[in-house]
Amino acid sequence: MLVLAICAVIFLVVAGLLVYAIVRFRHRPGDEASEPPQVYGSNQIETAWTVFPILIVFVLILVTSRGIADIQDRKPTAGAVHSTVVGHQWWWEIRYPELGIVTANELHVPASTPNSYQPTYLKLQSADVAHSFWVPQLNGKTDLIPNRVNQMWIAPIRPGTYLGNCAEYCGMQHARMLLRVVVHSPAEFQQWVKDQQQVAVEDPSAAGGRKIFFANSCVSCHAIRGTSAQGVFGPDLTHLMSRQTLASGTAPLSRETLRAWVRDPQQLKVGCLMPNMQISEKEVDQVVAYLETLK
Ligand code: CUA
Repeated sequence: MLVLAICAVIFLVVAGLLVYAIVRFRHRPGDEASEPPQVYGSNQIETAWTVFPILIVFVLILVTSRGIADIQDRKPTAGAVHSTVVGHQWWWEIRYPELGIVTANELHVPASTPNSYQPTYLKLQSADVAHSFWVPQLNGKTDLIPNRVNQMWIAPIRPGTYLGNCAEYCGMQHARMLLRVVVHSPAEFQQWVKDQQQVAVEDPSAAGGRKIFFANSCVSCHAIRGTSAQGVFGPDLTHLMSRQTLASGTAPLSRETLRAWVRDPQQLKVGCLMPNMQISEKEVDQVVAYLETLK
């Protein structure tokens, strides 16, 4: 308001003098075709129009700096959701440290309602190269840069699924580094949190596939909470089947796409860091049956 007031006064003075000059010195019939008296080199006028603007700009700098500092020091809203998003080649690791949840490629957040403001604060990091977090309907782009933590917050009001993507070229499968933000009503979000906090179920019917999964190097990259699989290099699979897509939006998640993926990830997403595990067709079916129990 102070900046607006200063600018309003300047505008009124400038516009007032302009109107005065237009009216007072307008061309009148009978004016001679000669120039009015010319003034050169007035120290007073020149000093005045140098010093006053400098003082005004200085005041504006002070006011603006204070405003910026206020915004940067603002504490996150109490009770807000905090999430850490880590960019990987080529998928998104999504953590909720306070809730004990780790997932991938789908950020779930509560919607704000007229009675309750529910922002989600994001810490943006990278595990390898520069990526960029971009969900156009929710906020601008913010880069995820190695050895640096960037921040952003979102507070969507309409429940639904919002599509996003990596917006910084990060290698071969940059185009298949898609992202979804699922906005829930507050009650639905609480339910999602509760479901995700559970450890993985152990379904005896999938024991065969489970054995193959744990006998191969799957476990050195993937974590499944409640089991000995503690890998952090690839996506957490504890609740794999709760997600909408496979391989960061490469394909919708279904038995068929999961089978294609386990058989040979390189067919679906060339260059991705998961190798072909070279297991037999029967073993592929068993592993897929096991993965399907991870709801
Ligand atoms: Cu990650 Cu482009």
